[in-house]
Amino acid sequence: MLVRIEPQDVEIGMFVHAFEGSWFDHPFWRSNFRVETTEQLQRIRNSGIDALMIDAERGIAPPGHRPTAKNANAPRRKPSRSWGKPLVQALKPRSGPTFATRDPEDRAAPRPRRGYAGECRRAKQVIDRTRGAVTDMFEGARLGRAVEVRRMVRLASSIGASIERDAKALINLVRLKEKDQYTYLHSVAVCALMINFARHLELDAQQVQDLGVAGLLHDVGKVAVSDEILNKPGALSKGEMQAVRGHPVAGHRLLASSQGAPELALELCLRHHEKVDGTGYPGGLKGEQLSLAARMGAICDVYDAVTSNRPYKQAWTPCEALTEMQKWRGHFDPALLDRFADSLGIYAVGTLVRLSTGELGIVVGSAGEADEDVIVRAFFDCDALAEIDPVDRAIAPSAEHPRIIGRDSPTFWRFPDWDVLRHRILAAKIAPGPEEGDG
Ligand SMILES: [Fe+2]
Repeated sequence: MLVRIEPQDVEIGMFVHAFEGSWFDHPFWRSNFRVETTEQLQRIRNSGIDALMIDAERGIAPPGHRPTAKNANAPRRKPSRSWGKPLVQALKPRSGPTFATRDPEDRAAPRPRRGYAGECRRAKQVIDRTRGAVTDMFEGARLGRAVEVRRMVRLASSIGASIERDAKALINLVRLKEKDQYTYLHSVAVCALMINFARHLELDAQQVQDLGVAGLLHDVGKVAVSDEILNKPGALSKGEMQAVRGHPVAGHRLLASSQGAPELALELCLRHHEKVDGTGYPGGLKGEQLSLAARMGAICDVYDAVTSNRPYKQAWTPCEALTEMQKWRGHFDPALLDRFADSLGIYAVGTLVRLSTGELGIVVGSAGEADEDVIVRAFFDCDALAEIDPVDRAIAPSAEHPRIIGRDSPTFWRFPDWDVLRHRILAAKIAPGPEEGDG
């Protein structure tokens, strides 16, 4: 049950479902959370918002909505038994939470999630607005103007709100960019990927926001490089290459002279082309010398670049991109790359995954060119604990079923020799599946 209360009536232990009013006005990145500290309590009370919605079933209920002595002693319903098939039961798809975070200009009452298609429409507006502002920023920077950091913070917040409502909508849309839109939409895409990644890593709200802003600003140093060089289809000359490699330092200098740029934005701007083996630029830093922001940024930057159509290369599908990026030894932090894949729900070819069908399968590739759908070869029934005849299932990213629940562990399932089994499944000849509509 949702109860509307004023900020002064919030208590520790209550579960915040949504804030009323503009998303900018409330002091938290997430709208759904339990109030656990006095600091959170003070931030809510000092926020200046009019009211917020409390979920009385997920935390302490507001006065007047608490159980009376009579109903408090009433026998509670026995929890339903759910341990019959613990692994499968525990991972059955759940319906998504209802997000109530809103766009800044949207001051209506909280409303339920609109679904993937609805969020795509809103995300399109957010992308268009942000692209316009990023274009302005780049043009201003070319004329020697400082970056309007506050504007970038607001845009990153709108992108964050879209991701909170439905992580896939904006990220999938912004990937499909035309070649001539690349420079500006790449900044929007890296912002969205960084926010989604940071949320997945459960970084704190300020870091999530700063990393989003950092994504928008990471390539601002490209204003020091001519469009002719940036969009050149062929190989770059030594001098042109040197000009391109100067953009992290140029961007860092520009941000350092702009008021209010977060430290993480300066860091990402300077370090997003470093590699963990020390062969990147400009510093040639390696391993532990690289901050988390730098290692995250390197992944998001390259992932968006290789999944976008460029003058000199056709885009890879997300699955192809992950598969290739995993092979680039020394470029990325491998553990972090796995976390990034998890944050997007995309997996490299050969990854063992669990499906919402109750099966285990191996990712075998993309469904088509530039296609987000992946093909998973199901080969094991988790209910029966037995191998089945392999069957290929097309998994669409926006579908609720069948869908990939997550990567799984061959060790957990005690497959005697995983490499041999994987090779056998990947090499299996698969009979064509039934046509859609067949019984
Ligand atoms: Fe760059």
